[in-house]
Amino acid sequence: MSGPVPRPDPDPDRPDTKRYGPPGTAPAVGDLSLTVPAGEICVLVGPSGCGKTTTMKMINRLVEPTSGTVRIGGEDVMQLPAVDLRRRIGYVIQQVGLFPHMTVAENVAVVPRLLRWSPERTRDRVEELLDLVGLDPAGYRDRYAAQLSGGERQRVGVARALAADPPVMLMDEPFAAVDPIRRDRLQNEFLRLQAKVRKTVVFVTHDVDEAIKMADRIAILQKGGILAQYETPEAILSRPASEFVERFVGADRGLKRLSLARVRDLPLLEPVLVRVGEARADARRRLEGSPAPFALLVDGAGKPIGWLGTAELSGDGTIDASHATPGASLLQPGPTRRASPIGRRATSTQAGAG
Ligand SMILES: Nc1ncnc2c1ncn2[C@@H]1O[C@H](COP(=O)(O)OP(=O)(O)OP(=O)(O)O)[C@@H](O)[C@H]1O
Ligand SMILES: [Mg+2]
Repeated sequence: MSGPVPRPDPDPDRPDTKRYGPPGTAPAVGDLSLTVPAGEICVLVGPSGCGKTTTMKMINRLVEPTSGTVRIGGEDVMQLPAVDLRRRIGYVIQQVGLFPHMTVAENVAVVPRLLRWSPERTRDRVEELLDLVGLDPAGYRDRYAAQLSGGERQRVGVARALAADPPVMLMDEPFAAVDPIRRDRLQNEFLRLQAKVRKTVVFVTHDVDEAIKMADRIAILQKGGILAQYETPEAILSRPASEFVERFVGADRGLKRLSLARVRDLPLLEPVLVRVGEARADARRRLEGSPAPFALLVDGAGKPIGWLGTAELSGDGTIDASHATPGASLLQPGPTRRASPIGRRATSTQAGAG
């Protein structure tokens, strides 16, 4: 696995194929052609056995393509010494694969040691990464893999892959064994890091929601490594290329799209604002001068109470909260449109209180 192996089909222009069996058998990954722009997260999703892990392993040459070429930064990976290649690529393998005879700290330090970092630098980096993945260094650094839960092992695997800060990361279901709350935190942490360091990441998951959250682009694979669609999450959710993709992303794809848009991106209309206690005649005049059919009633603190139409503003006297029709949920600008409702409308002050 270390040196270049002669390939049966040397045609460099053929898209990548990996066939585990002899010629004539169906390939695990056939004719897959995919470019991941530098600094982006490409998420591979698809049913079990469709060839995701095989695709990953062709990138760092843990499996050699039967035909075709894999290039990183324009360089054919088959032309690079395998050891150099793997130092440049952080790999979180699907089965975690911690070295059982090494402690957590030693596992994380594997690549820094290959790169001959000083013991101090290595130790600092290990502590930093264990913190990052939520494992208290004091409690975990000297444990062995057998003394960890599945999710803890997985987090050590992520720390190990990040250790030498490689420009390319291959992450095969890196958070699959972690509970939803911690997974959410790890995802956020990873995205925060990514915003700073802009690695080129190939990320495998079974979870469509995780794909939508993490991906700049999603590659949906069908059995045999056939590329069903390769586009941004927004494009895949709004325009699935086939029935297979449509089924894969789920019937709630409209709802899922909401998780891609921030509330602050919604176009806002500036309504006529009416305060509790204001004269009806004044409010009516302002509403008549505006293109909107409704005015928004707010309390003394400017908090929305509900909507007022011309009918509610007819007559004399002042306006109180009981005249308004309660509005919908209140949203904050930061969260996504899917996650945003922060509670029901502000409870209107009871009749007579205004
Ligand atoms: N070493 C191997 N020898 C023979 N066949 C293999 C080998 N590794 C994988 N395969 C086959 O290749 C196909 C793709 O496997 P791969 O591991 O890439 O799938 P995957 O998409 O990662 O699946 P999962 O989601 O279950 O991890 C499968 O049919 C699998 O049985
Ligand atoms: Mg796999």
